Amino acid sequence: MAEILKYGATAKWLHWLVGFIVIIMLIFGSGLESLPLDEREQIIMGHSGLGTLVLILMLIRWPWRLTHDVPGPTDTMGTWQTRLSKAMHWALYVLLVLQPIFGILQAMYLTDYEVVAFGQIAYSSMAADNEQMANIFHIAHGVNAKLLMVLVLGHIGAAFYHHFWQKDNVLRRMLLFGKVSGD
Ligand code: HEM
Repeated sequence: MAEILKYGATAKWLHWLVGFIVIIMLIFGSGLESLPLDEREQIIMGHSGLGTLVLILMLIRWPWRLTHDVPGPTDTMGTWQTRLSKAMHWALYVLLVLQPIFGILQAMYLTDYEVVAFGQIAYSSMAADNEQMANIFHIAHGVNAKLLMVLVLGHIGAAFYHHFWQKDNVLRRMLLFGKVSGD
């Protein structure tokens, strides 16, 4: 079978769409808690809607990844680097699915305001208010967000390391209009 040099259009679009939304949400999500409740309720409409979109995209992306061949490690990558990159990628998949799920569970049990994703999906009406459960998922959503930040920063750092230090095709093969040697 011919060697796969770069990702296909579906993988690239899913990657950049999820990446863009998640980075925006990690940056702006961190200020949410300090807002007054009425303002928070408005902003959470967009936050929960975009988060739901991330969950849907990840539920498409994960099976897609499992059923398609993707470019393998480059010659510049040793055994430890190949193992680390695989572990990082699967950890990102797991955290990216857990993050919106924890958000939705928090929203379902929340007692102090209503979460209605994009003004359409009334998560807060899906379960009886329960402060203890809301607190558990609030902590889970916050801790998972911190882990996600570390992994996303590591992921971006690794992409730049490949591009500028190892000077290989790893970043280029995921760019929407990127050309790789052998194209
Ligand atoms: C990938 C998707 C998501 C990301 C990256 C994300 C990120 C964040 C971050 C960083 C915070 C602040 C956490 C803290 O500082 O403790 C937060 C809070 C919150 N998120 Fe998300 N979130 C996502 C999805 C969702 C979804 C799907 C929902 C609900 C349906 C949701 C509901 C909430 C709520 C209710 C808060 C708490 C705001 C408050 O303190 O009152 N999130 N999110």
